[in-house]
Amino acid sequence: MRFLTLFPALSNLAWLSYGARLVDFQVAQPPVVPQDAKECTVKVLQRDFAFSFGMSEVVQLNPPTDCGAPGSWAAITLNFTVTSNGTQFDRLGIFTFQNTEIWRTSTPEPTRGDGIVWTYVKDVTQYIPLFAEPGTFILQLDNLIQPGLDGIYSTILHATYYASSSSATPAKKADLILPLSTFANDTGNDASVPPSFSLNITFPRNTVQVYAEVFASGNGQEEFWYNNVPNEFFSQISPDITNGDGPFREIRLLIDGKVAGVVFPYAVIFTGGYTPPLWRPITSYGALELPTYFLDVTPFVPILADGNPHNFTIDVISAETNHTINQNWFVSGNLQVVTDSSPKPTTGKITRYEVESFPKTTTAGMVRGLGDFDFTVTATRELRIEADVISGSGRINHVVFRPFNRTQQELLYLYTVARLRSRTSSLTRLISNSNFSDPTK
Ligand SMILES: *[C@@H]1O[C@H](CO)[C@@H](O)[C@H](O)[C@H]1NC(C)=O
Ligand SMILES: *[C@@H]1O[C@H](CO)[C@@H](O)[C@H](O)[C@H]1NC(C)=O
Ligand SMILES: *[C@@H]1O[C@H](CO)[C@@H](O)[C@H](O)[C@H]1NC(C)=O
Ligand SMILES: *[C@@H]1O[C@H](CO)[C@@H](O)[C@H](O)[C@H]1NC(C)=O
Ligand SMILES: *[C@@H]1O[C@H](CO)[C@@H](O)[C@H](O)[C@H]1NC(C)=O
Ligand SMILES: *[C@@H]1O[C@H](CO)[C@@H](O)[C@H](O)[C@H]1NC(C)=O
Ligand SMILES: *[C@@H]1O[C@H](CO)[C@@H](O)[C@H](O)[C@H]1NC(C)=O
Ligand SMILES: *[C@@H]1O[C@H](CO)[C@@H](O)[C@H](O)[C@H]1NC(C)=O
Repeated sequence: MRFLTLFPALSNLAWLSYGARLVDFQVAQPPVVPQDAKECTVKVLQRDFAFSFGMSEVVQLNPPTDCGAPGSWAAITLNFTVTSNGTQFDRLGIFTFQNTEIWRTSTPEPTRGDGIVWTYVKDVTQYIPLFAEPGTFILQLDNLIQPGLDGIYSTILHATYYASSSSATPAKKADLILPLSTFANDTGNDASVPPSFSLNITFPRNTVQVYAEVFASGNGQEEFWYNNVPNEFFSQISPDITNGDGPFREIRLLIDGKVAGVVFPYAVIFTGGYTPPLWRPITSYGALELPTYFLDVTPFVPILADGNPHNFTIDVISAETNHTINQNWFVSGNLQVVTDSSPKPTTGKITRYEVESFPKTTTAGMVRGLGDFDFTVTATRELRIEADVISGSGRINHVVFRPFNRTQQELLYLYTVARLRSRTSSLTRLISNSNFSDPTK
């Protein structure tokens, strides 16, 4: 109610929707699927997530047999449809199949009365190698029911497989997908960092290309990481306002201790962020399908194809002198692997490696009072990796991974008493009048 005077237009919208469920949505491109293909739709799971903390939905998913040979499909989509009625926080949802995270979502905060409904259709065509085999499908949606929080998320998930034909060709796909995963079989397969997350991976000897997809989202003290204050100023301001460790974050993928690629994360604002009515009914970009990040690690193939295990590490660093961050980020990923037609081992060598372990950063600013300060953090990054990759069938490929030439981020942070007031009021969102303690925060 506190937002009615602030957002008359939005509250009018809510009034108009009275008498019918509010339909929430995220603006997104619809998946590109063939129009006239035969479709096989199967129900993957149906579950009411009430008090579900630590109790994921775990089901078996088998490929359909009447839309062509498993794996020959032109596309696959998932339809996640959810209703909720009551009061609840936005929650993270982690979809894991074959121990590989395939989709990270979050839940719109519901309203009481008619409640809300949303549908999101997610393109999972790139994961066809996983869907071609029977396996364990897990939806982790840790929800809490307690005084003041009674919203249950009632979910239903369908998968639609589109048969290929002469007009709808089979989707291009990797030969193999290897997870960057915790391999848990009863919950989502993402890891919490810090500290860093690592696992050993052994590749087929005839690997010729490897693409990494990285999932990463800030949570708890890192949800609004871009509002965090550099440690050199943090002791001079009230810790109630924000957190330390500064506003810059870089997600690093390391192979055997060497940086193979970096990600500058997109700031997704969940539906409880700042001013919840702003995200109703349209969520912010990425709230229902969190962005993921692709890194071409093909230049490492001459090393990866040696038949030995290699150490893949994901961490998240700041611009602080010791690179520390708060708790926490959830990270995972997968490696899309292309193998050669010949079983003979791939050879070659890395010919150029120009990557510093950490970006070059500077921090400057001043604190004038408890709620009045400003500072600027800059981070500069260069990354260039090249290799000659020689396939078993004799093809020599010079590969270059240089996603940017030199990138500089400048984060300017102005904090005044006026800003402090608006932020303090937004933090009281949903929880005024209840004794809230949330183990996920
Ligand atoms: C998604 O699933 C819901 C519930 O099963 C259904 O009502 C809706 O029509 C589906 N939407 C699409 C685009 O398939
Ligand atoms: C939503 O829950 C309230 C009780 O909190 C109930 O009165 C109302 O009928 C419910 N709405 C729907 C659409 O079921
Ligand atoms: C889960 O994984 C553990 C360890 O990898 C294994 O011992 C257990 O049998 C698995 N459980 C199921 C249900 O697959
Ligand atoms: C990978 O390397 C890091 C840093 O040396 C180490 O801490 C970690 O234990 C290694 N991971 C595995 C799976 O061996
Ligand atoms: C990872 O592989 C390295 C190199 O073979 C080995 O020394 C290390 O023990 C492995 N770590 C784990 C956790 O298996
Ligand atoms: C990093 O630096 C901050 C502030 O200077 C300090 O509080 C923290 O303990 C340090 N962390 C580590 C792991 O050294
Ligand atoms: C980087 O610079 C080189 C040489 O100037 C240019 O060819 C290349 O397209 C640039 N790459 C990017 C990602 O900007
Ligand atoms: C909060 O907790 C206190 C002490 O346990 C209790 O007296 C009070 O009634 C609670 N308030 C609410 C809204 O539950």
